[in-house]
Parts: sequence; C-alpha cells; structure tokens
Amino acid sequence: MIVALVNQTRGAGRTMLAVHLAGELALQGKRVALLDTDGCSGALEWAECRRRNGIPALFETIGIASPDLRCGVWGLHTRFDHVIVDTPAASTAALRAALLAADTVLVPTHPERDAMGRCAATMQLVVEALAVEPAMTASVVLTHAPAGLEIERGTEVTVCGLRLPVAAAVVGERMSFAMSRGTGLLVQEIDFVGPAEVDVRRLVDEVFGRGRTGETG
Ligand SMILES: Nc1ncnc2c1ncn2[C@@H]1O[C@H](COP(=O)(O)OP(=O)(O)OP(=O)(O)O)[C@@H](O)[C@H]1O
Ligand SMILES: [Mg+2]
Repeated sequence: MIVALVNQTRGAGRTMLAVHLAGELALQGKRVALLDTDGCSGALEWAECRRRNGIPALFETIGIASPDLRCGVWGLHTRFDHVIVDTPAASTAALRAALLAADTVLVPTHPERDAMGRCAATMQLVVEALAVEPAMTASVVLTHAPAGLEIERGTEVTVCGLRLPVAAAVVGERMSFAMSRGTGLLVQEIDFVGPAEVDVRRLVDEVFGRGRTGETG
C-alpha cells in the first residue's frame, strides 16, 4: 500500500505521522520504505538524527525528487510491503506528485477551525484527485488533538464546501512526538504502550486494516 501524507500548511504533523506509520508497520514485521520529497524538514532529517544517535534503522528512508516519485514508487513495489510518502508544505507540484502515486492520502491537521480552514487548498486538490481516481482513498487525520477529543467512525469534515472523511483515530498533543523529533526515536521506543503509541497503533489499524499481529500488505 502507498500512503502519502499531504498538507500545504507548515507544521501540520506530516513528518511525525509518516515516520510513525512507517515505524509501527516495521515493528509489525513489514518491509517499509519511507520516501521523503521534502528535503528540508522531512523524514530524512529525522532518520539522520537517528543515525547520528547510533540507533539502528527500522525501515529504509529514501530522498526522492517529486517528478520521480511515481516511477520510484513502482520500482519499490516488489521490495516493500508498504511505501509511506512524506511531502513538503510549500510545493503544489510535490502534492500533485504524491496524489498521482498514492493509494491512500492522509491530510494531517490540527483540529482547530482556523487550521482546518488552511487545509482548503490541499483538500481541493485531494477532492479533484479522488474524482479522477475513484480507487484512491483519502481522509483527514486530526493531530495535536486536545485530550478527550473523540471522532465517530464515518464522520466527515466540510471545509469551503469540500468534504472528506475524518479518521476516527485521533493523534493527541503528546510530548513524546516532540522528543521524537530531537532524538530520532519513535514514540513506541520512548514510551512503550504510552498514549502516543496507542494513538499511532489505532491509526495504523484504521489505515492499514489490521492489528500488530495480523497480516497486512
Ligand atoms: N501529536 C503531536 N504532539 C506534539 N507534538 C507534535 C505532534 N505531532 C508533531 N509534533 C511536533 O510538531 C512539530 C511539527 O511536526 P512535523 O514536523 O511532523 O510537521 P510537518 O507538517 O512535517 O512540518 P514541516 O512543515 O516543518 O515539514 C514537530 O516539532 C513535531 O515534533
Ligand atoms: Mg515535515
């Protein structure tokens, strides 16, 4: 499965989600590649921080230019069970490239109304992509969520008349994600069975369909 994290807003949580989806799948025994089309503040930076701290990689992290993404993904299909794509905020070209390559698109966003409003341009492109590629799926993922926020399965969000489903799995505002950025550790390694890990596992279950002991791919 090819999953792309997209949002043209800076600091939405794309990289942390990309890294943790890849990490959780790898911990489940899957062969995972994490592609970074950002280059500035993306997954490669996190992987380099992990390497500098002497922590073994759990999955392969590969920098790739957006124009090469679609072909690059096809080339990886046989070697990996899952490919996760981290994208930059500023580039519409990178967003379009990710939409062309992905089976599933996740739009991470802070849950506040203003932050959701800033997703409108991204959602416009996602909705257009869904119209021409009905097999693709897309959903908004709430990150930095306040304690106690619960989303029922089947909930949709409407921004500027554009509608997308919202993942029931919400990622809370957790200190361990901030620590992950500075250390190259996963939250699963910082706080085993802590709330951040539970959030990640729920999201993986929802997006990839099965739990840690089940079969994916
Ligand atoms: N659920 C969370 N709880 C607390 N901090 C978080 C959470 N998710 C991400 N962060 C922190 O917020 C910051 C932005 O997250 P991240 O780098 O994943 O966003 P991004 O969308 O990739 O940003 P950029 O536009 O810089 O590429 C980082 O410092 C990260 O550690
Ligand atoms: Mg990033």
